[in-house]
Amino acid sequence: MDQKRILLIVGGGIAAYKSLELTRLLRKAGIGVRPILTAAGAEFVTPLSLSALAEDKVYSELFSLTDEAEMGHIELSRSADLVVVAPATADLMAKAANGHANDLASTTLLATDKPVLMAPAMNVRMWEHAATRRNLATLKADGVHFVGPDEGAMACGEYGEGRMAEPAAIFQAIQGLLTSGRPLAGKRALVTAGPTVEAIDPVRMLTNRSSGKQGYAIASALAALGADVTLVSGPTALPAPAGVKRVDVESARDMLAACEAALPADVAVCVAAVADWRPAEAGGQKIKKDGAAPAPIALVENPDILATLSKHARRPRLVIGFAAETHEVEAHAQAKLAKKGCDWIVANDVSVAGTMGGDDNAIALVTAGGIERWERMAKGAVARRLAERIAGELK
Ligand code: CTP
Repeated sequence: MDQKRILLIVGGGIAAYKSLELTRLLRKAGIGVRPILTAAGAEFVTPLSLSALAEDKVYSELFSLTDEAEMGHIELSRSADLVVVAPATADLMAKAANGHANDLASTTLLATDKPVLMAPAMNVRMWEHAATRRNLATLKADGVHFVGPDEGAMACGEYGEGRMAEPAAIFQAIQGLLTSGRPLAGKRALVTAGPTVEAIDPVRMLTNRSSGKQGYAIASALAALGADVTLVSGPTALPAPAGVKRVDVESARDMLAACEAALPADVAVCVAAVADWRPAEAGGQKIKKDGAAPAPIALVENPDILATLSKHARRPRLVIGFAAETHEVEAHAQAKLAKKGCDWIVANDVSVAGTMGGDDNAIALVTAGGIERWERMAKGAVARRLAERIAGELK
């Protein structure tokens, strides 16, 4: 559990005192706690006690110059492995379910790309109200996890469901979420993506069409399952996915060198559209037109990164290639599997309009065991399904 970090949002309710005990339990287990205290939460526990137990600064203002200078609210929302809301009041649930962003807690919940765990705490009538039921259903559909509430006597004198789960139970739920869903934790993944560019002279180049979207989505999906991912990327217009180490390269030879430097790895996924050839001579000076017919460009073959990794002394256990084809897709993919010596080929039919540079992909997974055809889906969904398959294979 060491080095894990929780962003703990403490809402306004009598149960807020239990969040102090939760903070103590988390710190004792070596888990970092960065607290956000809502204005209502500060009516129940003081920033000083929360800060002392968390051994960290308490964040509470959305528009605080000092807080923003230290860590912007977007960065704050991404700074932990898990966001925990305890107590999650009816108001915080309603805000999160409806995407409000009018204070630090709600803005953080809207901006985060990390899993969220809520420990609701409220009066039994509020918990049973149709509005809260709707919000609960929405939040669950959005993937938010819940622990509690428990049934029992309430601070308001009523009895029923609505008491916040005990700190030990919340702690257990946190431990479960920090360890589950990360089947690739401890595994190293190498992903190539984007095009390569091969210089003709300092201003001209040969390149391939590739947005990099599919490769970036795969790097991101592998990281989400806990892998330590190196993304070796040719020039693209995409930002580096969160939690992924990106190495920028231009030519095929640079890409190969960066891949070899990233070894050892448990899995390599070669998604890059590598230029098959490069000009034999890349002039150091711009080639001038000077009126004569253009000189032909002599080409030499580039190294095949996928084939090199497949027969490398430090070969990753699982090597996966892509085959972008316009015709006889599966036959070509099967031939590539044999020729390159990789384990799987993800074949995609780029003759389908909107695949190149688009957001959807229709693929077939070709392995020694046969061909599996996947229905057309978003590139993100292809990535997640492939990452799950990789996790299954490396288990
Ligand atoms: N690939 C590679 N290095 C190269 C060429 C291709 O690593 N120099 C990888 C791609 O990243 C992809 C797979 O090989 O995973 C297939 O690429 P593709 O361009 O479809 O195949 P080619 O080997 O270039 O064959 P062809 O051009 O004949 O289709």
